[in-house]
Amino acid sequence: MVYSKIIGTGSYLPEKILTNADIEKIVETSNEWIIERTGIHRRHIAAEHETSLTMAEKAAREAMADAGIVPADIGMIIIATTTPEKMFPSTACHLQERLGIAGCPAFDLNSAACAGFVYALSIADQYIKSGAIKTALVIGSEVMSRVVDWTDRTTCVLFGDGAGAVVIGASDEPGILSTHLHADGTHKDVLSLPVSIGKPMEVEEELFIKMTGNQLFKLAVNILGNLFDETLKANGLQRSDIDWLVPHQANIRIIQAMAKKLDLPMERVALTLEDQGNTSSASIPLALDKAIRDGKIKRGEMLLLEGFGGGLAWGSALIKY
Ligand code: COA
Repeated sequence: MVYSKIIGTGSYLPEKILTNADIEKIVETSNEWIIERTGIHRRHIAAEHETSLTMAEKAAREAMADAGIVPADIGMIIIATTTPEKMFPSTACHLQERLGIAGCPAFDLNSAACAGFVYALSIADQYIKSGAIKTALVIGSEVMSRVVDWTDRTTCVLFGDGAGAVVIGASDEPGILSTHLHADGTHKDVLSLPVSIGKPMEVEEELFIKMTGNQLFKLAVNILGNLFDETLKANGLQRSDIDWLVPHQANIRIIQAMAKKLDLPMERVALTLEDQGNTSSASIPLALDKAIRDGKIKRGEMLLLEGFGGGLAWGSALIKY
């Protein structure tokens, strides 16, 4: 039996930091409101020359160095992003050129929004398990600061920029144990970036993220709870078997509810929300990489990754790291 295993991780965060105090000068909000309602204190913002491609490249090179591989070893590149370099060619094809390799499949996964990383990981995992490829580079990279409306206090306080990458490789020991993906298009309007290709733009605000936050909050808590039950059941595991929750970083109150659902203390949750905000599809690999590099997540531990976002789309991955 062939499994896929995480063999390296990496990340990149832009240098510029925007604090809640900085945002107080842009929209009518307060540091206290943002911390109390979201858990976010600051976020990284890409410089003008930085894009989802430049950040993905930095995170990818770090992950490859960590895995001890060279670009020629890569059998597939998937970049989860809602903010791609271009509509096409994909950010992944741009990255492939920068890495000096050609031939392996390379594509973006930009339709699963904040669940994009888990979707991408699931695809790469299937290819490795089937024996079709041996190594995959799976990246989440986002410049959310370019698609938020900086006059809308209900969204601009939430998001940040960055990239996280993992290298997964074939292994005869269990690594990624299972992935579970879902979507429900009946909730398509709860969170969207409603730019229509080929149609004249009617109002400028179509360029920006739109979200009904409190509705999404309730949906998230509900679907994630069910997702955890499904993931544990599929693997015949109990809540007590989980060592770490590595959640999408959207709101501290959602994450706390999920930790409670798993009976996990918050010390067992990989958290970056306070310093990075919601970096959409980059948030899970960023949190994973940080917890590993900080020496918190250790080899052999059981990790539960979860993501949710526009679509709605959501998914989990259960991993023996
Ligand atoms: N500063 C100050 N007040 C704000 C504000 C801000 N940045 N944003 C919204 N408010 C106000 C609202 O206008 C509203 O005022 P009103 O009662 O006078 O109408 C009040 O705060 C409450 O708004 P509400 O949207 O009900 O707040 P909330 O407790 O649900 O928190 C979110 C808002 C967005 C933080 C929260 O709903 C959330 O995180 N939802 C999930 C979002 C998510 O997961 N997104 C990413 C998915 S990938």
